Amino acid sequence: MARIFVTGSADGLGLGAARALLDDGHDVVLHARNAQRAADLRAAEPRGRQIVVGDLSSIAGTREVAARADDTGRFDAVIHNAGIGYTSARRQETADGLERHFAVNVLAPYLLTALITRPDRLIYLSSGMHEGGATDLDDPQWTRRRWSGPGAYSDTKLLDVVLALAVARRWPDVRSNAVDPGWVATRMGGRGAPESLASGVRTQVWLATSDEPAATVTGRYFYHQRAREPIAATKRADLQDRLLDYCAGLTGVPLP
Ligand SMILES: NC(=O)c1ccc[n+]([C@@H]2O[C@H](COP(=O)([O-])OP(=O)(O)OC[C@H]3O[C@@H](n4cnc5c(N)ncnc54)[C@H](OP(=O)(O)O)[C@@H]3O)[C@@H](O)[C@H]2O)c1
Repeated sequence: MARIFVTGSADGLGLGAARALLDDGHDVVLHARNAQRAADLRAAEPRGRQIVVGDLSSIAGTREVAARADDTGRFDAVIHNAGIGYTSARRQETADGLERHFAVNVLAPYLLTALITRPDRLIYLSSGMHEGGATDLDDPQWTRRRWSGPGAYSDTKLLDVVLALAVARRWPDVRSNAVDPGWVATRMGGRGAPESLASGVRTQVWLATSDEPAATVTGRYFYHQRAREPIAATKRADLQDRLLDYCAGLTGVPLP
């Protein structure tokens, strides 16, 4: 039995992954953004014994999530699943003055990674849309470019791959990988999405728990339990180091 923390597990792929892990007998620590969502989650999935509560859109909120998660004990795996989608018609700033997609989808997983006691395995939810993301980290806050919701989302999903690969390089003793779950009918994916929740969570669950050789690699990008090539820029050490430095500068917390 493994101990696994799944962020954003009140809905969608996070809830689906948590349920699949619970079905397999693992000890799953759930996460919801606030007390109301925690109550919703408790009603939806009573088997989750522990729910960490906290909003990942602010640095302070993410610090609290990290501390509360760590208080439950060391994890074998963390699935960085929480995320927001690509339909915002305008740029929105968080309490820290950061573009919202960047704050939730990139800075929060960075900070949780840096603050939570190092687990054996880390899984970061990316997307096929990472292929359309900017590869230069020149305007991660969208202050200079004309706003595009899909563009901002794609940037963050590219940076999630960069983060997974950067952590894999810095921490060779940890298996750190990124996952494209496919296009799945969740609140984010929309009703018309072609893939099932079961297929959308399988790879994260497998990477978090399986001892198969194919699941115990690091620094890879997966789609449906197969390693796939992410766009080449994600493998650049200079881009990986710039992202880690940028996130460390914003949060004041370097990756240990
Ligand atoms: N669905 C797809 O087709 C698809 C495709 C590629 C990649 N992905 C990735 O898969 C992950 C999960 O997506 P999904 O489709 O399951 O989306 P979803 O149904 O919208 O669920 C997102 C989860 O993240 C939580 N969350 C969002 N903002 C948060 C915040 N500020 N603080 C705490 N929790 C927050 C949500 O909480 P609330 O419910 O309280 O809002 C929810 O539990 C994302 O990283 C996404 O980019 C999804």
